[in-house]
Amino acid sequence: METRNETVLRIFESDFYINEMVKVWEEGKKWADWIAELTNRYGLGKRVLDVPCGVGRVSSYLVSQKFEVTGVDISDRMLEIAKRNVPNARFIKGDMRKLSEILGNEKYDIVVNLFNSLGYYNEEDDMDILFSIKSVTKGMAVLNLDNRDYVIFNMPEIRYSYVPPYMVVDTSRFEPTTSRVEVIRKYLDSKGNEVGSLEYSQRYYSLHEVVKMAKRAGFRVVDVLSGYSWKPFEIGDPQMTLVLSTS
Ligand SMILES: C[S@@+](CC[C@H](N)C(=O)[O-])C[C@H]1O[C@@H](n2cnc3c(N)ncnc32)[C@H](O)[C@@H]1O
Repeated sequence: METRNETVLRIFESDFYINEMVKVWEEGKKWADWIAELTNRYGLGKRVLDVPCGVGRVSSYLVSQKFEVTGVDISDRMLEIAKRNVPNARFIKGDMRKLSEILGNEKYDIVVNLFNSLGYYNEEDDMDILFSIKSVTKGMAVLNLDNRDYVIFNMPEIRYSYVPPYMVVDTSRFEPTTSRVEVIRKYLDSKGNEVGSLEYSQRYYSLHEVVKMAKRAGFRVVDVLSGYSWKPFEIGDPQMTLVLSTS
């Protein structure tokens, strides 16, 4: 039977998922603007680690804003696109659970983990990711996650979205004993024929859980905001963005 590590990799290497990530490319600019503002507010340097960097959408706009960017991701295919589209950033293949093994003694002014990139594996792995991020942060880290408390009350059982050229149909179930969302995602062509599918499960966190984990990793929680805004996070917001400091 396929392990969870293998499932995660298979999904992130699939044409369907890569197509979805490329379609949200433009949102990378909103994040880069937000990170630039964070830099101003806290007087941070311009050395950024984007992990996981995916197709490089945030890295790309950060480079345009004169940041010195390193991106790390586990997927060869995501990195191939990132390298092609963002020649002025450095991209490295690696596991975000083991950043110091990949980056040695390098430390970054800002380390960003964006777009709900925890919860693919198990809770111990998420804790490893936070320790790993802490080990390469010398300034601040940013953790942007979907808010479990929003998801449980607002996630439709069936959700349709159009990600050209496919209609994407997600059938999702929240499992209260584990706080994991189990998703069956189907891709339909313009005639309504199923042309592919993915099945995955992801752990969703409430703010108090992530705060506890971040503190355990050695961070201080400086602020919690709503997505890439400067609005303080409220319990009904879809996303929470934690600004974490090493000091
Ligand atoms: C939802 S995407 C987010 C990418 C990027 N942060 C963004 O906003 O576009 C999640 C990414 O996590 C990567 N990933 C999954 N497990 C990983 C791991 N153990 N180490 C590094 N990257 C991983 C996937 O390959 C994928 O590119």
